[in-house]
Order: sequence, then structure tokens, then C-alpha cells
Amino acid sequence: MSLRLLTRSIPRSSKFSSRSIAFTAAPARASFSTSSSSSYASPALAQQSTENNNNDMPAPTRSAAQWSDFGRDHVCHGLGRLKDHVIVRGDGLDLYTAEGKKLLDFTAGIGVTNLGHCHPHVSQAAAAQVNNLVHLQCSISFHAPYLQLIEKLLPAMPHESLDQFFFWNSGSEAVEAAIKLARQATGRQNLIVFNGAYHGRTMGSGALTRSKPIYTQGTGPLMPGVFSTAFPYWHSLGVNPSTSEEELVRLAEHQLDLILRQQTAPKDVAAIFIEPVQGEGGYVACPPAFLKHLRQVCDKHGILLVIDEVQSGFFRTGSYFAIDQLAPELRPDVLVFAKGVANGFPISGIASNKDLMSKLDVGSMGGTYSGNAVACAAGVAAQEVYQSGEIEKNVAARGAELTDYLRKIADSPKTKHLVAEVRTMGLMSSIEFRIPTDPLTLEGVPQGTNVPKNIGKRVQEYCLDRDLMVLTTSCFDTIRFIPALTVSQEQIKTAMDIFTAAVENVAREG
Ligand SMILES: Cc1ncc(COP(=O)(O)O)c(C=O)c1O
Repeated sequence: MSLRLLTRSIPRSSKFSSRSIAFTAAPARASFSTSSSSSYASPALAQQSTENNNNDMPAPTRSAAQWSDFGRDHVCHGLGRLKDHVIVRGDGLDLYTAEGKKLLDFTAGIGVTNLGHCHPHVSQAAAAQVNNLVHLQCSISFHAPYLQLIEKLLPAMPHESLDQFFFWNSGSEAVEAAIKLARQATGRQNLIVFNGAYHGRTMGSGALTRSKPIYTQGTGPLMPGVFSTAFPYWHSLGVNPSTSEEELVRLAEHQLDLILRQQTAPKDVAAIFIEPVQGEGGYVACPPAFLKHLRQVCDKHGILLVIDEVQSGFFRTGSYFAIDQLAPELRPDVLVFAKGVANGFPISGIASNKDLMSKLDVGSMGGTYSGNAVACAAGVAAQEVYQSGEIEKNVAARGAELTDYLRKIADSPKTKHLVAEVRTMGLMSSIEFRIPTDPLTLEGVPQGTNVPKNIGKRVQEYCLDRDLMVLTTSCFDTIRFIPALTVSQEQIKTAMDIFTAAVENVAREG
């Protein structure tokens, strides 16, 4: 078992004056009196328990079980689900089902509700905006929250050259915007991505996705002109987990070099897209040296470097953006963001520099809902919480605790034969289990040891049965942890006690 722990100094927090935000926390409703609101030490970490929450389904005509049946009957078959619960309320890390069951949410809407469900400062800002202006199409005029959100994001950008913004709704759309910008600005067509990458499911962003075939299978041909190369991750390169970071970088650099010599001329390449921490690929952080190498390759050939921080942004990894830690001096040509920006209100965006954005034809960017006023107002409020400094502190403390629990599982004589690798960066952590048919994952396991099949799925089932919501990730056997960044020490302990018992249970059953 090897442990990759990426903790670097975080140079960005000084940009934001540490200020506290006043919230009024209303008492919890009697029916959910176990609300977590009292366990938060500070306003930024406080969770809302409002009086006007509706804990019931809109129509009392069906029982919870009947609503679940209704969902199975009418919700698109192509949409997978972790569990067929009907959720009626969220509060911090707690989710409540129509049956009144309380779940501990370690999924955060797949890394979206970074400040917890219904963070009071964000929800109140959105509620106030609803009564001012809900929508103004962005091609009609500027609207105030759109500009205010840019004002808040400007000092958070990982590089000062990123001072031009375009907002859209989803991460996939933002990736589409980045593709359009890269092609228009360079006049070139080809794009390079990495094995294991996830950039979305649309026809353009889906063409860039290389984590699993399920996202686009049966729908091709997708957008042409995309080339995929090895990510500096041992699976991607077919080497053992204990391979040094230096060696992984050397091998990945070699593969990229081959792509540019054998498959696409550098002068035809518009952009290289990379997630600094692969999300759907398994929560694998890119070694800093490789990011620096990409910048050099891009500069040499006039290729744009697009950094996709849709999942890793907004303090998920401990800093505003993951590249703040991984490569503080790195200059992305385009930064793609979404998810945590507005804590659940649908907004995404790209940031780039004036030189590139000025090459876009006027009218080529837009969209009916892009930069929605309510989502922007929520985004402004979310930045105020992020910039208070408290979230960053909590991620450091809770991330270290989570890592300790995972490390204990990986080191314990009871369970170490099940674990291939633990990877953590802030509160973006994963544990990869061994696969009996995949020799790479069996490194260090004494011959004759029984390594069971489908460990992750069995562990996940055990957790779900005990009302802990956790997600798997990647085509390998990996479980990821992405709780809200407001998670308390007690919630980490509760979750990890269940999780540890789940792994021990699989080890016992074999
Ligand atoms: C790195 C990355 N890029 C793009 C996307 C696509 O975002 P969306 O699902 O909002 O379209 C995701 C979604 O998980 C992501 O993790």
C-alpha cells in the first residue's frame, strides 16, 4: 500500500481579509430536532435550520414508498441513482428523507454543496435576490449580481491574468465554452486530454471525457479532433503503485511527446485540457512537475493550457483552487469552474485573459440562463463565506483527520491486504481497493492472500445501509470522500467509524 498525501503551503488566503459573517440561526423544527446547527463553532461553518422549511413532499397524495415507485416509473431510465430515497430537506451534512430518516451526506451533491446544504448566508442571499430580479438574459444588459460575482472572483483567481469571465450553467457547458474559446482564439482544431479525465457528457465535453465509456457509449461520433494521453498515475502508465512521482512524470512526459510526434502536429493543437486533481478518474492529484512541463510544452507550441477545476475548486482541496497548492506560479490560459462556486445554485464559468477573450466574435458566447441573477447572488454570498478564512481552516483540520482514519485502514493488519492506495488532498480523498484480477493493485500482497472481489461496492452497500452516503469513483475499485467543507470533527468520526467497520466486515467475510 502506498499513501499519496499532497499538502502544500497555501499562499492565497492573505488576499482575503478575514471577516466574520453574521447569521441568525432559527431553532430547528421539532420533527428534525437532531439538526446539526449547534455543532458548528463559527458562523461560516454554521448550518441553517429555518422555520419555513418544508419537510413534506409537495402533494400528500402519495406515501414515501409510492413517490419512490413514481420516480422509478417516470424518471428517465438513463439516470443512475445511488439509492432510491426521496429527499425532502438538507441541512449542513444532514439529508432528510420523506420517511423522516436522517442521512449523513458525504457526497455533497458530488462536490457541489461545499458549504453544506442550505448554508444560511447563501440561501438568504438567493432568497433576497428572488424578490429583486430573477432573470435578465445576459445579452440584454449587465445585471448587478453578475458583475458583483466577477468582483468577488477576481482576487480568487490563481493567476492575475485571468480577469475576463463568461458564466454558464453546468460544468459541461463551461467546458464547451473553453473549447469554443480555444478553437476561435488559436484557429486550430485539435485538443489533448488525459486518460481518466472527466469533462462532461455533452457532445463536445463528452469527447474530452476518458474516465469510463458509459458517459458516451452508443452516441458517437462525438466531436472529432481529441487525442488522449497518459495521466501521471500508475494505472494510466501500467506501473506499480509504489512508482516514484518523478518516474510517473517522466513516463507521462514521454507519452505526451509521442502524441505530438506521432498523432497530431503541435501546430494543429488548440489546447491541452487537464484536471489538476482527476475526479472521476479516481481523485488523483497531478504532480506539480507535470503541470509545469505542460506549461512549457504549451508555450513552446502556442497551445493553450485549460485547467478544469470544476470538481477541485472552491476549497475542496484546501485552497481556492487546487493549482494554488500544486503549482502556485502556473498561468492557466483558461480556468474552468462550476460546482462549489454557488453552493448548489446552477452556475459555471470560464476565466481567461484579455488577449484571448478579445479574439472571440461578439455574439458567439451566450445562453438564455447563463449567469442567472439568483445563482450569481448565491455565488457572491458563497465567496464571502469562502473568503472569511474559516473554511480553509476547517478543511485543513478535518482533512487531516479523514486522512488519519484512511491511513489506519490501510495500515491495519486486519484490512491492509484490501487497500491499494490512499490519496488525499484537503477534503478530496479516496481509498483505492485492490482488484484480485489486476496485478498492479496487488503489489506487496503475500502470495496466497485472499483478496475478495468488488470490495468498494460491498463497503459502499454497508455504509448506505447505515445511512452514510458515500460515492465510488473511476473504473477502478475506489471510494471517494467529498463531505461539505463545513463538516465537523464529530461527523468525520461518525462517518469513518461506519466506513472502517465496513472495510473490516469485508475483510472478515472475505
Ligand atoms: C472536472 C469536471 N469537469 C466537468 C464536469 C461536468 O460538470 P457538469 O456535471 O456540471 O456538467 C465535472 C462533473 O463532475 C467535473 O468533475
